Amino acid sequence: MGCYRPVLSPKCFLILVTTLFFYCFATAKTRNSLERGSSLSVEDDSDFLISPDKSFTCGFFGVGTNAYWFSIWFTNSKDRTVVWMANRERPVNGMGSRVSLSRDGSMVLRDVDGTIVWESSTSTPTGGAERAELLNSGNLVLKDSQGKTLWQSFDFPTDTLLPNQPFTKSMKLISMLGKGNFGTGYYSFYFDNDNVLRLIYDGPDMTSVYWPNPSNRVLANGRTNYNTSRIAGFDEMGNFVSSDDLKFSAFDMGMRVKRRLTMDYDGNLRLYSLSGSTESWVITWQALTQQCKRGKCSCPRGYEVADTTDWHKGCKPKFQPTCSQSQQWKFMQIQHADFYGFDLIYYESISFLRCRKQCLEDCRCQAFSYREDSCYTKGALFNGYVSPNIPGSIYLRLPQSVDTSPPTNPNVFNTCRINVSTTHTSTSKRERWIYLYSFASAIGAVEFLFILSGWWLLFRRSHGAAPPQEDGYALLSSQFRMFLYAELKKATKNFKEELGRGASGVVYKGVLSDERVVAIKKLADIYKGEQVFWAEVSTIVKVNHMNLLRTWGFCSEDKQRLLISEYVENGSLDKHLFPPNFLGWKERFKIALGIAKGLAYLHHECLEWVIHCDVKPENILLDSNFEPKIADFGLAKLSQRGGLNSVSSHIRGTKGYMAPEWALNLSITAKVDVYSYGVVLLEILKGIRFSNRVVENSDGEEAELKRFVKVAKRKIQCGEDQWMEDMLDPRLEGQFSRNQAAKMVEIGISCVEEDRNKRPTMDSVVQMLLECEEEHNIQQ
Ligand SMILES: *[C@@H]1O[C@H](CO)[C@@H](O)[C@H](O)[C@H]1NC(C)=O
Repeated sequence: MGCYRPVLSPKCFLILVTTLFFYCFATAKTRNSLERGSSLSVEDDSDFLISPDKSFTCGFFGVGTNAYWFSIWFTNSKDRTVVWMANRERPVNGMGSRVSLSRDGSMVLRDVDGTIVWESSTSTPTGGAERAELLNSGNLVLKDSQGKTLWQSFDFPTDTLLPNQPFTKSMKLISMLGKGNFGTGYYSFYFDNDNVLRLIYDGPDMTSVYWPNPSNRVLANGRTNYNTSRIAGFDEMGNFVSSDDLKFSAFDMGMRVKRRLTMDYDGNLRLYSLSGSTESWVITWQALTQQCKRGKCSCPRGYEVADTTDWHKGCKPKFQPTCSQSQQWKFMQIQHADFYGFDLIYYESISFLRCRKQCLEDCRCQAFSYREDSCYTKGALFNGYVSPNIPGSIYLRLPQSVDTSPPTNPNVFNTCRINVSTTHTSTSKRERWIYLYSFASAIGAVEFLFILSGWWLLFRRSHGAAPPQEDGYALLSSQFRMFLYAELKKATKNFKEELGRGASGVVYKGVLSDERVVAIKKLADIYKGEQVFWAEVSTIVKVNHMNLLRTWGFCSEDKQRLLISEYVENGSLDKHLFPPNFLGWKERFKIALGIAKGLAYLHHECLEWVIHCDVKPENILLDSNFEPKIADFGLAKLSQRGGLNSVSSHIRGTKGYMAPEWALNLSITAKVDVYSYGVVLLEILKGIRFSNRVVENSDGEEAELKRFVKVAKRKIQCGEDQWMEDMLDPRLEGQFSRNQAAKMVEIGISCVEEDRNKRPTMDSVVQMLLECEEEHNIQQ
């Protein structure tokens, strides 16, 4: 502006003078302390305090020319990750602003016009602060002449907590408003009045605690509210502990890693590690593991995404809400769905029709939930999710005229949770906004629902009881760790004993220093991109199911990428099933069910949607009890994300087990695994390998399978008495359960349908098999 005119206005003159003044002092750079009477100026972008080990930098952090914050950031992070800000609400000007340790012992941030934007208030009659020092921990401390700390930035966190920074009852981590928008946002991490650490959304329209699962009691969430000390924090290793019993660890637990815990603007609390080589951040723990993302969540019918570029903004109705008498309503049922909170009225022992009527007659009612004779009417839709564990349905109230045609991809809705909220700003105008929040609901709820459903399938016959919920997250992550290459070299005696090799790499047997026997896979070259590897490791760590091979850790050094997993005694299924070897019926059924459970977990319950893409007997390992464990999951996604040439990344899998859509160049869905499962299931029944029966490189492989399916179908239709004996492995010699075999043939045939829409989901395969699981004991 005026600054470039020949005649200077008084203000510009001031700027010029102060600028020159500070340039004179600019010689004292890369210092780690500020003495009384000195300042940092905004103009000189090298006028900083740097911690002795150079990890942290303190100074002015700016966007554009007129928004500067007095901040602390990680020196070596790609986009200057800010960990603390003095003046987040009031950025200062890019010219003439300065922060100084004043003569009276207070640290003061002044804008260009001299207004005090922030101060440490440490001046005392006896002298106040003598110097400001930036420590290696990232803590900016003000000390008096005796060296006593009068003020420290650790006591005033913004949205980030650093290792060894105590988090106490008076503190809050409050998110930013959005990417690049440093103002105070709506999500907070804090100790609640009952001594429990929580996450809360406190927005303009509503307030809602969403973590840990608000519908559980404190203890059920693995917390306690008895300890009133309200203190929490984490160490350099990445172990977080809190007086409310919240404990978790970074999956890359260990020293020499820079970490931060940040309340992110999308409402998730995350622990990060700085990857030294890329200077970018890797998530090593997060409070909410299932968040809405494009493609993972959707709006219920009758609603649409409010802002397609920002899913956090949720859904809005496709209709003009009205309370007019003449409005004709309809209800749209969503099975196994619920929205959290905002119940208007609860009715017990009431018929469905009366429940519906209650909702119709109450203008505030937007939906009702009906389950086992009880009825809740809902005044707002918030935090919705779909899970097979939710009994009953939710019924959305929609105008008769609104379009409720099914979404183009109904599966998306089923695998995910929707978060919708409505609030009324005025009752007369009845203007409504629906927000779809990024978070699903509490981690407790998410973890619990997903883990429970896995366990429920596994244990429902024997116990029927819920698993201990406290085990939750700590259990999942605590056993996962990073290994040193030298350690693995020693464990495998320099990679001596090879267990097997495949497209993804070579597997060696090893014994760790704690005497655990492990399988160590050296990944093939295609997995060597560091970012890709990290992303994949963080997916694998979340997968925990007894029918999936458990991964204990990983190693990433230079060009080496290794995964360390449990060692499974009995080797792979192909070594037991096919002649000259033989498996009894009991084992065959158990293996078929186990594989189905593992795949169902990957497809439906896992925290991230995983398609295996290479289900075959070689990838099914058997433990000492012949319980199957699926290996090599997660790698499909990994190689695809790796930016390879399209052919090799697209075609994955093994001939004979690959669904026809691979060849048709269709998009790949979980149904490719269902197809492969079908082939494996029929091989388990028949005891032969279909793909071995014909010459390679012709359609013969398919034909062999097709012929089997055709014959089986015909025999079933004709009700031939002996059909089953003909279709099964003759070596069983009648020693099998007819009910189970019939069900398995039926499932196998439906899984290998050419049309993928006709194939069942893995969830329903598990259900069908469970229904005949006990037959085994009755017959045979
Ligand atoms: C409360 O929590 C703190 C911090 O975790 C711990 O040191 C203290 O022993 C706990 N007090 C009780 C009574 O359990």
